[in-house]
Amino acid sequence: MAIETTKPTPIDDDARPGGARSARIVQFTDTHLLADPEATLRGARTLPRLRACLEHARRMLFPVDAIALTGDIVHDDPDAYGIVDLVFGEFDVPILLIPGNHDVPDAMRRQLSHAPFQVGGEFRTANGWQVLLLESWFAESEDGEGRLGPRQIETLEQALASGTELPAFVFLHHPPLPMDSAALDRLGLLDAADLCRTVSRHARVRGMCWGHAHQALDIFGADDVRFMCTPATSMQFRPRNPTFEVDDRPPGYRVIDLHADGAIASEVVWLEGYEEVASG
Ligand SMILES: [Fe+2]
Repeated sequence: MAIETTKPTPIDDDARPGGARSARIVQFTDTHLLADPEATLRGARTLPRLRACLEHARRMLFPVDAIALTGDIVHDDPDAYGIVDLVFGEFDVPILLIPGNHDVPDAMRRQLSHAPFQVGGEFRTANGWQVLLLESWFAESEDGEGRLGPRQIETLEQALASGTELPAFVFLHHPPLPMDSAALDRLGLLDAADLCRTVSRHARVRGMCWGHAHQALDIFGADDVRFMCTPATSMQFRPRNPTFEVDDRPPGYRVIDLHADGAIASEVVWLEGYEEVASG
């Protein structure tokens, strides 16, 4: 099957209500791309599902300031990073990447080392938000759990203590809090307490957003930090379920508007009525 490239859409701040005062990030997570685009994962063809989410976002939410791909970008096979390049490589906005437990970070960095891609690190929006990309993949993970490690926690502490009062937003792959699902919570973020302790020392962190759980969540935690889990573009797990039971919810993604005054507007976009694209 031929894979089409995706044409970029230029940023036009005047085209969006609110103009340049807000920065918009669209987040796609747990795309679980397979090297064979005809293959399925738990019954889902993951590339057409990602494409449907992207096309919907382009139609309804562009222009955007950045696109975030927050882990499990591929499903174990690094060859699928070539598909990421084909789908997102021609955009002229930053494509922010962080690895999830199914990713292969070395291969991700090697194959997506060119613009518009950025793996990890920090991104500043035009209106001053500090967006931090944390990497919870770690080599010793046995079943898919995540860990930031003391060095990354220290780097985060330094980034947040940089003397600015500008608002900050954190992306990572693993949930920093329990998702009320025994199976998922066993594969959570091992040093979540260290992360939350660091964040709570810096009131300018306004939100944290992740994937991994293949379901939606949006609550305020301690210190009024907004905690958001974003459903997968691939397939969902039933929320608050003790096992990994596949949900019949459609593909989904999230839009996040970061306002200049530190406020966050965000919602999950579900592709209601999505019909599986047949193979061949
Ligand atoms: Fe995943």
